[in-house]
Amino acid sequence: MTLTLPKWFDLHTHFRQGPAMASYVQAHLDMGCAGALAMPNTQPPVSRISGAAESDGWSIESYSAELRAAGAHAFEQLIVPLYLTRQTTAFMIREGAASGLLRACKYYPPHGTTNSEHGMPMDNLIGGEVFRAMEEYGIVLCIHGEQHALSGPDYIDAQQNAETRFYTERMPRLLAAHPKLRIVCEHITTRTAAEFVVGAPEHVGATITPQHLLYTLGHLIQGLKYHLYCLPIVKFQDDRAALRAAVTKAGQSKFFAGTDSAPHTTKATACGCAAGCFTGGCAPQLYAMAFEEAGVDLASADGEDLFERFLSLNGPAFYGFPASTQQFQMEKAASKSVLLETPAGPVTPLPLGMGIELTWRMVR
Ligand code: DOR
Ligand code: ZN
Repeated sequence: MTLTLPKWFDLHTHFRQGPAMASYVQAHLDMGCAGALAMPNTQPPVSRISGAAESDGWSIESYSAELRAAGAHAFEQLIVPLYLTRQTTAFMIREGAASGLLRACKYYPPHGTTNSEHGMPMDNLIGGEVFRAMEEYGIVLCIHGEQHALSGPDYIDAQQNAETRFYTERMPRLLAAHPKLRIVCEHITTRTAAEFVVGAPEHVGATITPQHLLYTLGHLIQGLKYHLYCLPIVKFQDDRAALRAAVTKAGQSKFFAGTDSAPHTTKATACGCAAGCFTGGCAPQLYAMAFEEAGVDLASADGEDLFERFLSLNGPAFYGFPASTQQFQMEKAASKSVLLETPAGPVTPLPLGMGIELTWRMVR
């Protein structure tokens, strides 16, 4: 069986900075990816619109130029969101929108994940001038939807977790205060978040990663498979079932691919574990495996349609750019994922870290 699909878009990924960037971009090109939304949690963060990179921050202009020089010129689309920090102003939003450089902004829960210490609490942003300007200019708000600063027991327990709290306590207020704001609920992991997105207006969509469609907390804990450790953390079977139901609903237009592929050259140390699963080179294969586990027959016309919407069509439609007219192919055949050697050191792709074979292979 062979799948021929329009090239797809990864609407949430991490290409980092420095000499390894080119390896990460190449891994995306190698898996039929036609474009990406490249996260701004670099060191330093992408916190300005234009001008040269400075010691305290990249600009969208300078980081995009760096990415293009590292191979991203081959992409049909490259979106770099502005990291919302204490320095972000409504003037920057208006100027950025007018120049065409600004298409999205990223909300990070302060200290909630990798390089998120520059983030502003959601409560400080709701009702403020920055969100009003984004609403007015149609700038997309990309949200890492987890309540920050929770104690360990509140961070995750059987009834509630940081994500469910965020989607029940913060998101309704955000929507009420900014009814026109275009929002992507990124890398959602829970039934609560999936149901929130389904019930929200059309201009609220979501990305889902391969790992959250494939795995649960049990997979992570059994053997402490730290390559599966990412944030938000994988959740429970009922949550995974809700995510699978969301992406496999006929005609759905709100859910799309965003891998959150997040390379770390040092993953686990004696003092803890960096959050992030690296799925460069293998994301469409993993998504295909997840759709099959969800009961979709990718050999059928309906099954292929569902997969194509999620991977190649819904994301471009949501962000307002054309789907790719180029194609890529995958065939149903076992393949192994291998260590990615980069100038910064080797990075372990998720399937290798999980000790699984892929059941799909890219056709080159
Ligand atoms: O697992 C994650 N890794 N989640 C994030 O929010 C950030 C990312 C990273 O940059 O490594
Ligand atoms: Zn991310």
